[in-house]
Amino acid sequence: MTTKMAINAKDIFRNQHRLIRFIEQSIRLCSNQSLKTAQKHAKQQAEPDFQITTSISSAYTAAPEPIKHDADVGQQFAAVQLAVRLASPQQLQPKPDNDDALSFGKVFTDHMLKIYYHRSLGGWQRPEITPLENLVMHPAAKVLHYAVELFEGMKAYRGVDGKIRIFRPNMNMNRMNLTARRSGLPTFEGEEYIKCLSRLISIDSEWVPHSEAASLYIRPTLIGIDPTLGVASSDSALLYTILSPVGCYFKSDSDGAVSLLADPRYTRAWPGGVGNRKMGSNYAPTINVQKEAAQKGLQQVLWLYGEDHQLTEVGTMNIFMFYVNENGEKVLVTPPLSGLILPGITRDSILTLARQLGKFEVREEVITMPHVCELLNQGRLLELFGTGTACVVSPINRINYLGTDLYIPTMEQEKPIHEWIRETLTDIQYGKIDHPWAVVID
Ligand SMILES: Cc1ncc(COP(=O)(O)O)c(C=O)c1O
Repeated sequence: MTTKMAINAKDIFRNQHRLIRFIEQSIRLCSNQSLKTAQKHAKQQAEPDFQITTSISSAYTAAPEPIKHDADVGQQFAAVQLAVRLASPQQLQPKPDNDDALSFGKVFTDHMLKIYYHRSLGGWQRPEITPLENLVMHPAAKVLHYAVELFEGMKAYRGVDGKIRIFRPNMNMNRMNLTARRSGLPTFEGEEYIKCLSRLISIDSEWVPHSEAASLYIRPTLIGIDPTLGVASSDSALLYTILSPVGCYFKSDSDGAVSLLADPRYTRAWPGGVGNRKMGSNYAPTINVQKEAAQKGLQQVLWLYGEDHQLTEVGTMNIFMFYVNENGEKVLVTPPLSGLILPGITRDSILTLARQLGKFEVREEVITMPHVCELLNQGRLLELFGTGTACVVSPINRINYLGTDLYIPTMEQEKPIHEWIRETLTDIQYGKIDHPWAVVID
């Protein structure tokens, strides 16, 4: 009898996380039901100009062309080879108490994914999931000298139905492989990586926040680790992935908007450079300018380019402007993919959704500061906002340009377009709208 009770207690102890998850999901489903009813009611009363899209045609969901590997990359890895070494009970970390108060990238989950590449051993090696642990590398490793490093930023969302989803992962894989090629690092099969990543997320699934204000940030990283000092392509590399539960990345004013420093003395990217690739070396030189912005009481940097002061990006976000043209028509515009800006997945998704909505013109064209000033003076600028995985949309309320504060009326609009965008994208990400962009993790 005592032994039986001990076994039962052991079983309960071992499965307590499942029980907690079940209770949390039940509470969540109940509260979501009442939340949904309240939201539906509120929406009916507000009679918005913009309808929330509940079905999006497959014509708008095309995946990018898979990358073709160079012949000398060698063998690819496959998810079926994945080896798993779980953390011991002593290695497990306590999970954050309050999902809504998470700051960015300070807490990490219990496991990581590692895939080594050694040209001398034939190419990509067997993928492995291990406890989160420090990396050991030779002090001559290329990443430490020539910044041979690139990364991605993705998120896993716990949906209103309790399922975990990731958003358009094939787009991240495509961008990562393009960056790998530009960095002299080996390319890999994105689909196989996504399968390994899905396994990592399901092992650490308890770390995916139970909140729509938070998510699990995914940081795939690829580094050159050859122990040689030559500036040359990497014969050894490590593709690793860490996970971190996060809230929103950007600090904002009390009205939820950000203020920007636009100083034409600084630029982030230039034609022929790598502004359109997500490599670590693009980010280090921005840190001091960001510090200068903070010292002036501004939250982000608006990166300008060229004699005509073109707007390129906001901090680590793409930029969008909503305005009224000379004919009185509303236009949504974002800079084109000219090589100066990162091809954001949020940017692409917004262009797709807005074009499908068909309520206003959607353009990809150069925006300059003189044009912004002119629109402001004529009362035709409605909204400016940054977009990215970190925060979906980040409205802008002020730009400090050539020492003058320009006040942007983004937060003064009655039915702002950036709110429609945020709602539509998060509805997809958190599973309120069934959509092929949101991929369920088994
Ligand atoms: C420089 C830069 N621009 C734009 C973005 C937004 O891209 P995405 O929408 O894919 O997150 C990011 C974030 O990855 C970024 O680092």
